[in-house]
Amino acid sequence: MKKIIALVLSAIMVLAMFAGCTPDQQGPGKNTYNLDTVKEGYLTVITSPDYAPYEFYALDKDGNPSLAGFDMALAQYIADYLGLTLEVVPMSFDGILGEMQLGKADLALAGLSPDPDRLTAMDFSDIYYEGKQAFVTVASKASQFTDLASTNNANFTIAAQTGTIQVGLAEQYSPNAELIQLTAATDIVAELLKGNSNLDGAYIEWDVAAAYKVNYPDLHIVCEVPYDQEGNVIGVKKNNTDLLNYVNEALNKCVDEGTFAQFVATALEQAAGDNYQGMLDPDGKVPSSSDAE
Ligand code: ARG
Repeated sequence: MKKIIALVLSAIMVLAMFAGCTPDQQGPGKNTYNLDTVKEGYLTVITSPDYAPYEFYALDKDGNPSLAGFDMALAQYIADYLGLTLEVVPMSFDGILGEMQLGKADLALAGLSPDPDRLTAMDFSDIYYEGKQAFVTVASKASQFTDLASTNNANFTIAAQTGTIQVGLAEQYSPNAELIQLTAATDIVAELLKGNSNLDGAYIEWDVAAAYKVNYPDLHIVCEVPYDQEGNVIGVKKNNTDLLNYVNEALNKCVDEGTFAQFVATALEQAAGDNYQGMLDPDGKVPSSSDAE
């Protein structure tokens, strides 16, 4: 009987860990390096879980969501390294910059590109992942696009996620097209895949497009889009130098020892399985109107 209870308890703990939520009874961590964080003993991480394989919700067989993605695994790794209890706060991507500006979170892990304009709101960790940019469309519209230059056409409506560097890419490479900004990356892809959509294409992270393509083969990657701040970084609370240094130490260890590569492999597997990308409803459930993959 004891064994069963222990098993059930450890299953609950594992679930809680993967949910990125902290069971209340866990309490603050021992704070190995005596770091100053927004909530003592905790590592408060903000993210935008609409971006597989970076961050999203994996669904179990009953459709229950838990946070997944290599950014989330890295957040847990860093929290463990620092001896802090991880607390993840999901929000839409365009909220992240403001929260960091206000100093409300210790870290932002959201497939962030090191856009120098963001340095007023946060500091950047070292680069932990070499992401790249893509222009996408759907199979039925693929013949309209031959290369990046062909996207610059006044007849086209092109989307990018609000607050992202992709908005800048759209303005740079497709200035004549009509630009639509949507708050969730999910909505962009859903809109594109809708048969009668007036959306012709979108700028999005390459790996996110590739992950969608596994489940939605109709999505078509036209070409890579050059961007001079390649790679992804962690946003670190401005001027918290100790935190920045230890985060870099943790993340470099994670990459060098090969653990991060495993996080990526797991994330890709989970992204190909049942998942949901976007915000949960107030009860922590997948909104019933949405189509989970
Ligand atoms: N890399 C892009 C940027 O930093 C897009 C990131 C979007 N992230 C997300 N979780 N939706 O602007």
